[in-house]
Amino acid sequence: MQPYLQLASLRLTTTIPLSQKIFSGKLLVTPEAMAAMAYIVLWAAALFVFAALLHWVYRWNHPKANGKLPPGSLGIPLLGETMQFFAPNPSNDLSDFVKNRVKRYGSIFKTSIVGRPVVVSADPDMNYFVFQQEGKLFESWYPDTFTEIFGRDNVGSLHGFMYKYLKTLVLRLYGQENLKAVLLGETDAACRGSLAAWAAQPSVELKEGISTKLIGYEPSKSSESLRKNFVAFIRGLISFPINIPGTAYHECMEGRKNAMKVLKGMMKERMADPNRKCEDFFDHVIQELRREKPLLTETIALDLMFVLLFASFETTALALTLGVKLLTENPKVVDALREEHDAVVRNRKDPDAPVTWAEYRSMKFTNQVIMEMVRIANIVPGIFRKALQDVEIKGYTIPAGWGIMVCPPAVHLNPEIYEDPLAFNPWRWQNKPEITGGTKHFMAFGGGLRFCVGTDLSRVLMATFIHSLVTKYSWKTVKGGNVVRTPGLGFPDGFHIQLVPRS
Ligand code: HEM
Repeated sequence: MQPYLQLASLRLTTTIPLSQKIFSGKLLVTPEAMAAMAYIVLWAAALFVFAALLHWVYRWNHPKANGKLPPGSLGIPLLGETMQFFAPNPSNDLSDFVKNRVKRYGSIFKTSIVGRPVVVSADPDMNYFVFQQEGKLFESWYPDTFTEIFGRDNVGSLHGFMYKYLKTLVLRLYGQENLKAVLLGETDAACRGSLAAWAAQPSVELKEGISTKLIGYEPSKSSESLRKNFVAFIRGLISFPINIPGTAYHECMEGRKNAMKVLKGMMKERMADPNRKCEDFFDHVIQELRREKPLLTETIALDLMFVLLFASFETTALALTLGVKLLTENPKVVDALREEHDAVVRNRKDPDAPVTWAEYRSMKFTNQVIMEMVRIANIVPGIFRKALQDVEIKGYTIPAGWGIMVCPPAVHLNPEIYEDPLAFNPWRWQNKPEITGGTKHFMAFGGGLRFCVGTDLSRVLMATFIHSLVTKYSWKTVKGGNVVRTPGLGFPDGFHIQLVPRS
């Protein structure tokens, strides 16, 4: 007999109430009846859990808000739309993830990625507003997985006093003054040296060449090990964040761990050498740590080094790699560049003299080319913020605590803003005022308070690279160059070129 029928028959056949049977000291309830009760309790519990689950799923998709939320789906609980977000995009065009949702919901929509509800903005006004409200209505925030990767004390996660202090420190090295006095000469020399070395080889894998020889530190044991770990790190950065052995994400975290070990070693070595000259940014940081009452902690210093190394290893190298690919496909642009740079060389007393600041500033067309390269490269496909309070914008409410992803590619590739947006057309920037910060229509380097501190350095680097490339060499593609983008980074993979000295 089914246990619940047994319980029913027990109720019908007995004249003594059940409680009396139990409390009378004699066990009058049969084991079958006990099993039946347990069965019912289990069923009730299962029903309760099921109802709670349904409620949770409902709440996941209909979160509470003091106003109208933007349209969009929060996907399946916990996972949200993370998988779709991380799907690779083999083109320079906007990812399908953003493109499809903009088509369906408009330029402001909600989603959920890596465990957080996020409002994505492809709307130039909203993006601008978000940047202007840094520290007021919004603050810099990156999903937990990004923070794990870059370190909890990375500059993007710091606010207030410590953030301002770090920014001043970074700007001391990468600001205009040092750029003019030191970095322009250094990058120019590095570009000349690298290109001459490449010309002596049958071919060079461009991305590898640029990030290791050009922007990397002096070749030493530790920098080689750092580079290897960075490669693992970067491969994982563009992967789905599951931290179990065998996944690219796990490799990335291991890469970070090892890179941090190398950085720690370098720090220890330099701290122990009181006579060391201040040569690079690391030395500046060491000087700060040596102060009597240092404001920096070792952890913050190491996270800062890590982020800066990443920024200089990767971002500019990616933009330049894609840039050379675009130049290769657009010989007219190369002709116009040659005209500008050959004139610079002609106007010098010594044609082999280093690039001067005045020369750099005179390279108007080169500046247009660089703007166009970074517009199409879209190196940073998402800039993240968090709402500090409920924010009303464009008829929607962004609840306090929600993430916001400003999406620069959606602006840079919007045909209403840039005609024929996928065309590489530097002339579109002609006669436009020089852009020195983020604008509503150009946000490759961010905007507002958090505007990229490396902007000027990366522009100088790209300009000096182009100068050496077009004045001294011609080149052809030997292999590869397929573009593969993911929300982490996008780049032409395995792009090999061969340099031939110009006669
Ligand atoms: C093509 C090259 C580059 C691009 C496209 C780029 C892009 C960006 C963007 C979009 C941001 C804003 C992030 C945000 O608002 O959350 C940013 C911030 C930053 N960038 Fe760059 N960057 C480039 C090169 C560099 C270089 C070469 C360095 C360092 C040497 C650098 C260092 C930084 C730092 C430290 C920040 C954080 C600033 C802050 O939080 O205030 N970047 N970058």
